[in-house]
Amino acid sequence: MGGGGVETDRAAVPTVTIDGPSGSGKGTVARLIARRLDWHLLDSGAIYRLLGLAALRQGADLADEAVLVDLARDLNVAFPARVQDDQQVLLDGEAVGQLIRTEDVGNAASKVAALPAVREALLQRQRDFRKPPGLVADGRDMGTVVFPDAGLKIFLTASVEERAHRRYNQLKDQGLGGTLSDLLREIAERDERDANRAVAPLVPAPDSVTVDTTGLSVEAVMAELMEHIAGRFDLQQ
Ligand code: C5P
Repeated sequence: MGGGGVETDRAAVPTVTIDGPSGSGKGTVARLIARRLDWHLLDSGAIYRLLGLAALRQGADLADEAVLVDLARDLNVAFPARVQDDQQVLLDGEAVGQLIRTEDVGNAASKVAALPAVREALLQRQRDFRKPPGLVADGRDMGTVVFPDAGLKIFLTASVEERAHRRYNQLKDQGLGGTLSDLLREIAERDERDANRAVAPLVPAPDSVTVDTTGLSVEAVMAELMEHIAGRFDLQQ
């Protein structure tokens, strides 16, 4: 079968995209939905984080687009399970799931993610996750750039205050510091940067459904999203 055929087959695979800012709860619900449907999960942020980690380890200049594109093309990563947890994220065969969640790697990820040629180099790698029986893709540009033909596009959001509170509680659970007012300011600044960057800005796809999770429990968000999914796909097959 030629490459075109494979792409045509992929387009037929039911796909739900979940985009939104950090703290909107998209990572949590994307994972839960993939588990419930027994579909594949693409955590696209993890891919940018893996590239960030590889770049830090090489001592690469995080603004050197040519070097980072080469690194992106050669990136040897694996997600052995359909719905991986952090234990199963591998870089050159090494389990780095916890390492990629650090603040340093997150910062490196957001720098390399701002380079257009790097995003382009990672496109096919992300599209390869689209396999039967279905895919839940979590990120910032899943519905706008990576899977513009997805059957259902969700844009998950929450107020800045709610997202700062969630982050504050997360940091507290990990025994880490951070004041609420600092977090509020940082999140507002990052929102501004993400929404206004030149390449793949964080904006809802025109045909997406926006769900505001402010004040909602994970169960309530799940119930709402599963309703949209059941309305869009034939889940009996
Ligand atoms: O979602 P997560 O925090 O793991 O993403 C890490 C970084 O990768 C973010 O700072 C974000 O800017 C970037 N990213 C992106 N496009 C995506 C997913 C993540 O630019 N689809």
